Amino acid sequence: MLNFNYSIPTKIFFGKGQIEVLGKQIKEYSSKVLLTYGGGSIKRNGVYDDVVRVLKSEGIEFYELGGIDPNPRIDSVREGIKICREEGIDFILAVGGGSTIDCSKVIAAGYYYDGDPWDLVIDKAKIEKSLPIGAVLTLAATGSEMDSGAVITNMETKQKLGVGHPSMAPKFSILDPTYTFTVPKSQTAAGVADIMSHTFENYFTLNDGAYLQNRLAEAVLKTCINYGKLAIDKPENYEARANIMWASSLAINGLLSYGKKPVWSVHAMEHELSAHYDITHGVGLAILTPHWMEYVLDDERVDKFVEYGVNVWEIDKDKGKYAIAHEAIDKTKEFFISLGIPMSLREVGIGEENLEKMARAAIYHKGGTVGNFKPLIYEDVLEIYKAAL
Ligand code: NZQ
Ligand code: ZN
Repeated sequence: MLNFNYSIPTKIFFGKGQIEVLGKQIKEYSSKVLLTYGGGSIKRNGVYDDVVRVLKSEGIEFYELGGIDPNPRIDSVREGIKICREEGIDFILAVGGGSTIDCSKVIAAGYYYDGDPWDLVIDKAKIEKSLPIGAVLTLAATGSEMDSGAVITNMETKQKLGVGHPSMAPKFSILDPTYTFTVPKSQTAAGVADIMSHTFENYFTLNDGAYLQNRLAEAVLKTCINYGKLAIDKPENYEARANIMWASSLAINGLLSYGKKPVWSVHAMEHELSAHYDITHGVGLAILTPHWMEYVLDDERVDKFVEYGVNVWEIDKDKGKYAIAHEAIDKTKEFFISLGIPMSLREVGIGEENLEKMARAAIYHKGGTVGNFKPLIYEDVLEIYKAAL
């Protein structure tokens, strides 16, 4: 196990009714807030009313930035920074899923930067500090509620890039599972796939000596498998929504990667799909994952797949190594299918036309190779895209 410094600074308020702490938490930082949200789901399901009621009852002045798109755009970031500067706002309250929270994080960092905020996305070294942000999570998926990263899309340059800085981590996040009852089946499924993918990215490393972290990762995966379908079939099942919501935060908040050095691969390949075709992040991950697994499976890596198959899918450990590995990969794919996720690129409107361009971009954005479980070069990424067609 490698050395690490544990630091997960976000306070979590988990459970039904936790919105009541919102006012007090914000007041530790500010009384003038930018309230950010997406396309309007929070207005339809009552979350907006809850938030506004609490803000008003605490006398907190607020301005709004709505309409933040899934795969949030740099244009929304620019708009948010402008409002904050014009109105003298010093706190951002993100109410929504990963897109709203990510956009808010970059508004927070961009507030202190003189140039165009896209510069920060390209070069995070330019980020020095950020406005404080808080989040009310409405979709369990990205873990943005408890990490310091954000992913922003530039439609003009067709780039979707990750950026992160410790100051961008939310000061607090409110996780009320009942706020996710209205998440549509397709987004619930994509969210579960995203949580599993974060876990895979942290789990699939070689000879890491991080036994504990790997068992924690398996627990997160088993939680997704146990509750994913239930949350889709019974959207108001509190236990399912609660377990998935907490899994979303734990998959990416550092717990699973401390002491290891995972370099992510499927995410790098997926971000190119979303950048070029604006598809749902979790769907792209689910399509690519089984193909990535089959592609990297070899003698050096088979034991890790055996660990995954036996511990997560409870496959008979006396079967041959490769039999276990292939069965585990098949089960992963079948699970995504059971959630109703389309499992080929063509089904989400992606043909052969841009595969080479996207493979080149994935390699370029990752500085030469993608991932480190098995470092992938251009030809590898292209093969995986082709297999996923
Ligand atoms: O926009 P609204 O109207 O709110 O509707 C959203 C949106 O259409 C809807 N939704 C959210 N909560 C809902 C709801 N509908 C009904 N009831 C609710 N309670 O769901 C749709 C998707 O929302 P979005 O925020 O885009 O989804 P998600 O949370 O999956 O975020 C995806 C983005 O996060 C990035 C992805 O790349 C993508 O851009 N990621 C961020 C990460 C991070 N910050 O650490 C890591 C991830 O790997 C990921 O890359
Ligand atoms: Zn993800």
